[in-house]
Amino acid sequence: MPGGVNSPVRAFKSIDSSPIFFKKAKGAYLWDEDDNQYIDFVGSWGPMILGHADPSIEAALQAAIVNGTSFGAPTRLENEMAAEVIKLVPSIEMVRMVNSGTEAVMSAIRLARAYTTRENPEQTKILKFKGCYHGHADALLVQAGSGVATLGLPDSPGVTKNATQDTILADYNSPEAVTEIFEKYKGQISAVILEPVMGNAGCILPKPGYLEFLREITTANNTLLIFDEVMTGFRVALGGAQQRFNVMPDLTTLGKVIGGGLPVGAYGGRREIMEMVAPAGPMYQAGTLSGNPLAMSAGLACLKKIQEPGFYDELEKKSQYLIDGMTRVIDAPLQTTVCGGMFGFAFSSSPIYNYADTKTVDSDSFKKFYLSMLEQGVYFAPSAFEAGFVSGAHSYEDLDRVIEACRLTNL
Ligand SMILES: Cc1ncc(COP(=O)(O)O)c(C=O)c1O
Repeated sequence: MPGGVNSPVRAFKSIDSSPIFFKKAKGAYLWDEDDNQYIDFVGSWGPMILGHADPSIEAALQAAIVNGTSFGAPTRLENEMAAEVIKLVPSIEMVRMVNSGTEAVMSAIRLARAYTTRENPEQTKILKFKGCYHGHADALLVQAGSGVATLGLPDSPGVTKNATQDTILADYNSPEAVTEIFEKYKGQISAVILEPVMGNAGCILPKPGYLEFLREITTANNTLLIFDEVMTGFRVALGGAQQRFNVMPDLTTLGKVIGGGLPVGAYGGRREIMEMVAPAGPMYQAGTLSGNPLAMSAGLACLKKIQEPGFYDELEKKSQYLIDGMTRVIDAPLQTTVCGGMFGFAFSSSPIYNYADTKTVDSDSFKKFYLSMLEQGVYFAPSAFEAGFVSGAHSYEDLDRVIEACRLTNL
């Protein structure tokens, strides 16, 4: 396997180390092949909001598997999933299930272009933000965060100029940058896509009023606003970032939590736009395994449990408890953020509002910190440019153990 892994950030390259091979997970814990136990804050990069091997997901999978693993035909489970998503995500009126976040974003971009070019064939450009990662589709692999940021690749070979010539880049959290671009490319921008909380360059919150500003400028220009909520969906609030910040996008992409740990993505939005998707409309998008019964069963079990009263209050309380404790005991300048079950900490003395600001992060301190934590049985994302995830399964005792490990770490 290239680099020994099936997805680049797993390789531990940015901390000059080699990856851990896991064999088992339960609740807040992971076990490696040598039987070492770790408290996990990666949560498979977001999906495991209930913790690992949650009994309700296990039971749903057991029940589903005896009925066959794929039909390639409509099922009741897909309808139940669609109803849940429409109920929970405020701006979604229709939804299409796919198999990954990348696929969801690719499809949403195609749909946005299909929609805006009906009246104006010139309206094909996409505005994205530096440091936001939207999966590995060619058009969006420009100044992306996540593994691309970690490995320091400005772009990827194999992505042609033609594939990205309609992608425009802006600095996150800067209204001026966006206003300038809308003036320069008047009548040409099909969609603005962003992570409403940037989780692929750390955990960067939108400045107050920024999402509202994007809503206004896109509406005024007949441009669609796409929230990529693959990470923030069901993570920063039950209804995602759109509910937390009360700003409604035209289209939303989902992934991670919606699959309860199985490979799933989804995109949805206003009925009028979604009705363009085949076979209701002319925009083609399909998938052999889309709406797979195992994935739907795991996802539905997960969505059911996160609706229990108080789930998100408790999740955010735990994230805040961890970050407060870390701030108290770590003897180095630290920038921190908390948003629901998502958190960020960056070794920097200046605030971080966008991708350029992340260059101030002290990578050497992160590396030292990371390896010390690993040694003490704490598994954070092996990169200074990724968000951390707390699950319902983390106990305050677990968090205290992590804070103590931070205290024992010399930077
Ligand atoms: C915001 C965002 N969008 C899209 C993706 C791509 O999702 P997937 O890895 O499921 O293709 C990710 C993955 O981390 C993501 O964080």
